[in-house]
Amino acid sequence: MTVSDATPNVLRLGVNIDHVATVRNARGGATPDPVRAAVLAQEAGADGITAHLREDRRHIADRDIEALMEALTVPLNFEMAATDEMQQIALRHTPHAVCIVPEKREERTTEGGLEVAREENRLAHFIAPLAEAGCRVSIFIAAERAQIEAAHRIGAPVIELHTGAYCEAHAEGDFATRDAELARLTEMAAFAHDLGLEVHAGHGLTYGCVSPIAALPQIRELNIGHFLIGEAIFRGLPDAMAEMRRLMEAARAS
Ligand code: PXP
Repeated sequence: MTVSDATPNVLRLGVNIDHVATVRNARGGATPDPVRAAVLAQEAGADGITAHLREDRRHIADRDIEALMEALTVPLNFEMAATDEMQQIALRHTPHAVCIVPEKREERTTEGGLEVAREENRLAHFIAPLAEAGCRVSIFIAAERAQIEAAHRIGAPVIELHTGAYCEAHAEGDFATRDAELARLTEMAAFAHDLGLEVHAGHGLTYGCVSPIAALPQIRELNIGHFLIGEAIFRGLPDAMAEMRRLMEAARAS
């Protein structure tokens, strides 16, 4: 447990460093190093670091997970698909948290939430050893009642709500859809919280759309990657994070 875990109404910022590895892998060498970015984010006040080891290793590599476990003092949130290979890797490293995400090779990023309701039995068995090993298990799902109830039934203590559709509608200027998505996220964050789940959110968040999500009082953690890493090119990672943190805190205080 981190200090902030025990503090109610604190909104944590988890920084996802996957896309530093995407740039590294574009040339196949060692730079830029995602572990260096993670340590920089940690020094700049990240509450946690998130890294997604995909089946095809398109960004984060196995050696990155090993190095992150050694280098970090803040919690590592290890994103992974529900496969035997990933379960073994997680059990070998026992990171602070694991976030179970759906994964399709052909997708550019994690497009939807996990279909927990359809795979309840398998997922219950899948997460049990991870929880026993001391990892805080989180399930990345759409803001849908059936998925939240299923995540609760399989014994996951945390859910992360997929904010992708909300962010995309915002970016496209489709404000009717954006507002409908926000209403859904608002209602489902409260529903999940009432069930006793810890609620996180993430995917696609930017300076332009983070505030209404950060203002939801049940949400305890935001995981943000692509936008922050892109913004870091122009202003540096600490400064990019500081602006995100400022927006999150202002929304929370309002
Ligand atoms: N949360 C989860 C579960 C994700 O899979 C991702 C993307 O890897 C993120 C948060 C971060 O999304 P983004 O990179 O769009 O900020």
